[in-house]
Amino acid sequence: MMRLRPLCLQLLFLSFSLLASIAAFAQPTNPFIGDIGSIRVGGALFGARCATCHGADAQGIVAPDLTRLWATGVEDYRVFQIVREGVPGSIMPASPAPDNELWAIVAYLRSISTVELVVDANADLQRGETLFESTCATCHRVNGQGGSMGPDLTRIAAIRSKDLLTSALRDPSALIAARYKPITLVLHDGTRVRGTLKSEDAFSVQIMDSDQQLRGYRLSQLRELIRDTESLMPVYDANALSDNDLNNILGYLVNVATLTAN
Ligand code: HEC
Ligand code: HEC
Repeated sequence: MMRLRPLCLQLLFLSFSLLASIAAFAQPTNPFIGDIGSIRVGGALFGARCATCHGADAQGIVAPDLTRLWATGVEDYRVFQIVREGVPGSIMPASPAPDNELWAIVAYLRSISTVELVVDANADLQRGETLFESTCATCHRVNGQGGSMGPDLTRIAAIRSKDLLTSALRDPSALIAARYKPITLVLHDGTRVRGTLKSEDAFSVQIMDSDQQLRGYRLSQLRELIRDTESLMPVYDANALSDNDLNNILGYLVNVATLTAN
């Protein structure tokens, strides 16, 4: 039987809280999304380290096309992890480079990531825009206008396939965006606060509540912390939004993404 002496316990605790704080910093968010300077750096790094296998345009030579990854709903952090760890059993190498360099490469890949931007000829863009403003803009921004409960949708149609966007509306909980995980906090007096989890560490959580206020809580203030599986994005089934109007809204989003493509 191994007995831990107090010093060992202290050391154990120390390394535990150190690990916990590292985990808190390692939030799976890309600090460089849309940051032109970093995207350029990422592009140069990609050219030097990845292009021999993935091609100068990232469309693949001996290795897969990387411009279609986001269309499948992958999160930036997952790509980061693949690049960090490599693909065991293949020639795709692990990369020991600093986090910043990997995030810059991921931001670059995201910026050149494409799905075909074709505005559906049947979509009524004007109606799509009006519906978006009355139904979606309370929670989503487009070109700097709108709420922040959900992700910015300015370029969403350029990186997600139409099927994926449709499923985001019809069945939002099937795939919940990484920085918008739903959470319910129960305070000691029984008050429940619902929101999306923005960050957490060993002692506290930060959330955006359903009034779109950023709030921080110490864990000691909470009776319970519930990680929900149901997205804060409402379900838009065919009663709430007809196939036609869904198509109008997607047409509007494709048009917005096309106009901001360059
Ligand atoms: C020596 C060749 C080689 C180099 C260099 C290389 N890769 Fe790869 N990469 C591959 C191969 C091969 C695969 C496919 C592995 C498999 O799934 O079998 C791959 C897979 C990937 C994937 C997963 C693609 C998917 O569809 O799941 C990503 C992301 C990726 N590479 C990014 C990069 C980045 C970024 C760099 C540069 C930092 C890089 N790779 C450097 C060969 C390479
Ligand atoms: C009450 C707030 C709210 C409203 C209203 C809302 N959304 Fe969302 N939406 C969210 C949240 C939160 C997420 C992130 C969680 C998730 O992915 O389910 C999200 C996610 C999304 C995504 C997925 C984004 C991605 O990265 O893949 C799309 C697309 C989307 N919403 C479109 C819409 C459209 C179009 C409307 C209007 C018809 C709308 N939303 C209305 C809150 C909202």
